[in-house]
Amino acid sequence: MSLPAPSHATWSNRLAYILAATGAAVGLGNIWKFPYMMGENGGAAFLLIYLGCVLAIGIPVMMAEVLLGKTGRRSPGAAVAEIARQSGRSAHWGAIGWMGVVAGFLILSFYAVIAGWALAYVFYAGDGQFVVAEGQVARDVMGELLSGLTSDPWAMVGWTSAVMLATVVTVALGVQKGLETTVKYAMPTLFIMLLALAGYALLTSDGAAALKFMFAPDFSKISVDTVVMALGQAFFSLSLASGVVMMYGAYLPEGTSIARTSLAIALADTTVALTAGMAIFPVVFGNGLPIDKGPDLVFLTLPIAFSQMPGGTYFGIAFFVILVFAAFTSAIALIESSVAYLVERFALRRWQAAGLAGFAIWLLSLGSVASFAGHDWAKFSWQWHGQTVTKNFFNLIDFLTANVMLPLGGLLICIFVGYLMAPALRDGHLGLRPSLRPVWLWLVRIFCPLAIAAVFLSLIGIGR
Ligand code: TRP
Repeated sequence: MSLPAPSHATWSNRLAYILAATGAAVGLGNIWKFPYMMGENGGAAFLLIYLGCVLAIGIPVMMAEVLLGKTGRRSPGAAVAEIARQSGRSAHWGAIGWMGVVAGFLILSFYAVIAGWALAYVFYAGDGQFVVAEGQVARDVMGELLSGLTSDPWAMVGWTSAVMLATVVTVALGVQKGLETTVKYAMPTLFIMLLALAGYALLTSDGAAALKFMFAPDFSKISVDTVVMALGQAFFSLSLASGVVMMYGAYLPEGTSIARTSLAIALADTTVALTAGMAIFPVVFGNGLPIDKGPDLVFLTLPIAFSQMPGGTYFGIAFFVILVFAAFTSAIALIESSVAYLVERFALRRWQAAGLAGFAIWLLSLGSVASFAGHDWAKFSWQWHGQTVTKNFFNLIDFLTANVMLPLGGLLICIFVGYLMAPALRDGHLGLRPSLRPVWLWLVRIFCPLAIAAVFLSLIGIGR
């Protein structure tokens, strides 16, 4: 049973839905964030926990979230509020949806900066900067190229502004449709290029060390932080609890299995992340690069690989162009719920709403730009369990979204769907085999809430 649909639009078929949802899921999170998170958090041990989080928490939560969208068939906040009302619960549960809107807003403020780096790299590649002259060391040349960008706040502001402007204009004009078509070709191309890059790196750089780092877990490396980071990355990479899954679920055609499509999306997302790792880590080890230095990793390793492969400049241009597209479609999905909210709440026109949201996000992005450029005003220090912790603005926003808001949203989604949503509304759409339904319900009611709650408790220091 669905609530009456205010809009009857649906995806034309199941594949279109999977492609669109995968397009939102696959982005900088897979190619930029996943490898450096894995590098900072102990390699294979992190991967193992990450896979566990995707399987046991990410997929059940995604199913619950699609279910909310599909049943409510409205923008996230309104959908959950409506389902709550129909289930005899307080409409305040709509807050689950609103929190996703805020999370998307915050995420975009640093996402746009990194998308700006990718855009800059298209031009660097085109300018022949991925070519290393005789007698120079690729590692040093590419290191200078990157620090030239990240130490120049004005350059970063410029590239970020270009990304935000394009995002705002696209959303204001409502021309996403054409973009979706572009992405339909861009995503598979990106994946094939990533595969080629991984094959090349594994064979020509230090493939053995990379595979050992990725797949031979050192269990002594597992700490509370590993689990916190892996869970956050699973939520971030699958785009959970940030508005978009619910929005897309609202347009799911009748008769489509939520279970099977969620599995397919998670599988595609994870495959891309793993392939990115295999393209990047061999270069890290082959060139003696530090693996735990954070967000710079991909922008250092990939150009090194391009500089060493035949036709690397053209491959590099193509790769970064497609990465920009992948990031751009995620950026549009990230701003969309803020825009929809402003239009709904304040009766703004679409271009006004897009301009307003875009400007606010752009202002916030200056904090991340200053973080990467190492400005002091973007640094914060405090005492935590007797130690001085220093984080920059980017670290804080990243942590607040991936490690606090998204898991918290997931926890609330589980509680709402597991205990509060009327079973008659809940049980119709899942498309789960009857034998698997109790498993999903157990995960959503018991396992996921307990697991996420345990991570939160350890986060605030209990158990340290
Ligand atoms: N999953 C995206 C990535 O890996 C990032 C993301 C998180 C996102 N939440 C989102 C993208 C919501 C679009 C919409 O890059």
